[in-house]
Amino acid sequence: MNFSFNHSCVLITGASSGLGAEFARQLASSVSTLILVARRKERLEELAHLLHERYPNLQIHLKISDLTFPEERERLAAWIEEEKLPLNLVINNAGMGNLGNFYDASWKRTQEILDLNIGALTHLTHLLLPTLRQQAPSALLQVGSISGFFPIEGHAVYAASKAYVQSFTQALHLEEGKHGVCVTLLAPGTVPTEFFKSASRLKEPISLTTRSRACFITSPEKVVSVALEALLQKRVIVIPNKLLSIVINFLRFTPVFLFQRFFLPNKKR
Ligand SMILES: NC(=O)c1ccc[n+]([C@@H]2O[C@H](COP(=O)([O-])OP(=O)(O)OC[C@H]3O[C@@H](n4cnc5c(N)ncnc54)[C@H](OP(=O)(O)O)[C@@H]3O)[C@@H](O)[C@H]2O)c1
Repeated sequence: MNFSFNHSCVLITGASSGLGAEFARQLASSVSTLILVARRKERLEELAHLLHERYPNLQIHLKISDLTFPEERERLAAWIEEEKLPLNLVINNAGMGNLGNFYDASWKRTQEILDLNIGALTHLTHLLLPTLRQQAPSALLQVGSISGFFPIEGHAVYAASKAYVQSFTQALHLEEGKHGVCVTLLAPGTVPTEFFKSASRLKEPISLTTRSRACFITSPEKVVSVALEALLQKRVIVIPNKLLSIVINFLRFTPVFLFQRFFLPNKKR
């Protein structure tokens, strides 16, 4: 039997904006239950209200949680167990960055990136895999980034955290496939979401074309639809922009300084 979204029970972290909210919108027509997790209550309530209006039979649970705290992750997993929710898709999407040199970064923010991008993703995976195995065929989508393929000057800790997500996910894909859990890495390039606003240390808004060439910028709608299709195809890695995927696979074998010159056309951050 193959994994399908129909009537499934899905947990999405970082569902209050960007890719997480878009996953909820695209899955809402087929799944039976959505568990939406983030810190901003009003944003989650707004999204749930819109989805309920369109899909009155959809069950939506909102969990307000700061996933940088291990006890909050444990509380979330314990609640899922208590409620006996038949979780069969987990989207580990919550993540944050901090644009600028490592030297000047506040330790608090650096620690948060490590705790969220690595700690929460790994801990939730560990807490929820037993349920995913029980519910197999099931799926786990880990949101990484193309930054995980390369060291990125000016985004060092973020890129390293996503390199961890990539390595971890590829190994899990092999381990869990045997147990009916498809584990896939989503590695987007630049996506217009609130990510850059929250990652920036500058007061003025960041122009996305200083981060990436325009042809590599992909809409959240496209990123999510390609990622969901990749889950059904049991792919190990998905880069949701065809041109970018070709370029990344080429650049993976290119020296770092050439990558920086090609991919980050303007070093203003
Ligand atoms: N945008 C891009 O260009 C891009 C490219 C590659 C990869 N990605 C990855 O895509 C994922 C989603 O990012 P996005 O682009 O959609 O950015 P976004 O709009 O800023 O969304 C980030 C989400 O993470 C949640 N979050 C942040 N800190 C959290 C915490 N401590 N506990 C729980 N939730 C937390 C935020 O919700 P609250 O603030 O309400 O908690 C928000 O829902 C991230 O993993 C990011 O690294 C993004």
